[in-house]
Amino acid sequence: MVKITVDNREIEAAEGMPLLEACLKNDIYIPNLCWIDGMKTPSASCRLCFVEIEGEKTPLPACTVPTRGGLVVRTDSPAVRELQRSGLALLLSVHHVDCRHCHANKKCALQRLARFLKVTLKPKHLDHVLKPVETDETHSCLVHFPNRCVLCGRCVHVCREVHGQPLISFAKRGFDTVIRFQIARNGSDADCESCGACAAACPVGALTTRAVLRGR
Ligand code: FES
Repeated sequence: MVKITVDNREIEAAEGMPLLEACLKNDIYIPNLCWIDGMKTPSASCRLCFVEIEGEKTPLPACTVPTRGGLVVRTDSPAVRELQRSGLALLLSVHHVDCRHCHANKKCALQRLARFLKVTLKPKHLDHVLKPVETDETHSCLVHFPNRCVLCGRCVHVCREVHGQPLISFAKRGFDTVIRFQIARNGSDADCESCGACAAACPVGALTTRAVLRGR
């Protein structure tokens, strides 16, 4: 274990543990969305978990910084909050904000983050760039809403953890990037055990099961 200082508080954490995990385990909240507890290789795709670290020129995503003894960290400076608000605005720009019609309403990470960062989910100045496809129902058990998806990669990650290789993956590039189910040439998704782990990992209501939608 090593000692680090976060927001003037000394805490202990395992050396090498992602700084984000070290803070969360010590009840110091840093906004985050793509992180999953115990992740070995964080994708750092959400760009929310910025912190300031003494000696570093610019804020860094805490999930990518290995904890080492003597780190002095600020999680709540104005610069950090500004970056986190910009990160959230970028996520919202590709997310169809229609909470009333979403099964994740009141459980959505974007709602929680907006409350924490004291911003609205529908900023007036924000341009939306939504995907043309509203619903992907090609899977026998899962339903995907591409224009709610913020491409955090959590579903891809947990599917890989369960199966050794993901049966969901990223497809296309740039703005067109989407997640895709692995469907065989004959249209079968039989390799999927319908465990629902991917849907449970979705923080925003972009991926769910048909059962959840039926039960609404
Ligand atoms: Fe660090 Fe998403 S949690 S970038």
